[in-house]
Amino acid sequence: MRWVRRGITTLVGLTALALVVLYGGSAMLLDRRADVELPQIKAATNPLDILEGGRLARIEGCLDCHGGDARGRLAFDQPAIARITAPALARVAENATDGQLARAIRNGVSIEARPLFMMPTQALNRLSDEDLARLIGWMRSLQTSAFDKVAPKEVGPLGRFGLLIGKFQDSVTRTGGQPRRRPADIGRYLVETVCLECHLIDREKIEPATGHAAPPLAAMVAGYDPAALRTLLRTGKAVGNRDVGLMSEASRKGLYALTDPEIDSIQAYLRTQLRR
Ligand code: HEC
Ligand code: HEC
Repeated sequence: MRWVRRGITTLVGLTALALVVLYGGSAMLLDRRADVELPQIKAATNPLDILEGGRLARIEGCLDCHGGDARGRLAFDQPAIARITAPALARVAENATDGQLARAIRNGVSIEARPLFMMPTQALNRLSDEDLARLIGWMRSLQTSAFDKVAPKEVGPLGRFGLLIGKFQDSVTRTGGQPRRRPADIGRYLVETVCLECHLIDREKIEPATGHAAPPLAAMVAGYDPAALRTLLRTGKAVGNRDVGLMSEASRKGLYALTDPEIDSIQAYLRTQLRR
């Protein structure tokens, strides 16, 4: 009988050790200090810039994740993996400097200098200084309310395991070299700052936490009928009046604010990106 007891003791010990590694290791990744320099950006104050900031907040998907009224939304909810709230933006702005807000959007670093998750910095990182200033000006124009949602993130055992093996990654990025103003090639700029939140130019992209697959963008868009592309982005209805899941949602919640010339420029740019 002694070997049974010893076996059980070993098993309990190993389980405890695994839990320590899982929780300790993942806590180090979740709470690490992300030392990224604060961008030198000042919030726009001109009403037209603030208005454009609000339009950008739709196009960039801020309102899709942070709630249609920017009052915060439970953005991810699979208890074994994580529960993550995209916080009310007025509440965040109230307690942050312009530089801290700019760093959250551009570099995926929280106001307290910790890593943020789910912020699509691979695309937001390319926004010009001027557009970032507009977005921050718009955030500063929002009123706080009793319905504001803010909540600390909760990460479950599967989420922690995913972090440790590198399946899930935080949004921290240091890439620099953003333009001061929007470049003349607006099609390319919009593809890089908006569509690449979910797509890749020449390959399918699968989102690890949700399993959503976004088709290769250039091939998909280049062949689209121009009027049908406008309808898709305006209404969420794809060719053949189909609902296309996340894409339809992104269109209805934000991409609809793209203008016709912007949509045409997006298509024109993507046609130059087709593999020959
Ligand atoms: C795909 C969903 C998504 C999109 C798109 C998105 N956010 Fe977020 N954002 C989040 C989530 C989720 C968090 C909280 C992350 C965390 O706690 O780790 C967050 C955090 C933030 C924070 C930092 C809050 C803090 O307490 O430090 C700011 C500021 C912010 N978002 C602003 C924006 C703005 C402005 C945009 C648009 C340019 C935007 N977000 C687009 C999901 C998103
Ligand atoms: C929030 C994520 C997200 C963003 C942002 C996004 N897409 Fe998509 N897109 C998807 C996903 C996911 C699909 C696949 C939808 C499906 O078939 O279920 C898709 C599908 C498409 C399709 C194929 C529709 C069809 O007929 O099946 C086109 C075209 C498209 N996207 C263009 C764009 C363009 C252009 C942009 C930028 C302006 C963009 N997308 C931005 C997630 C996104």
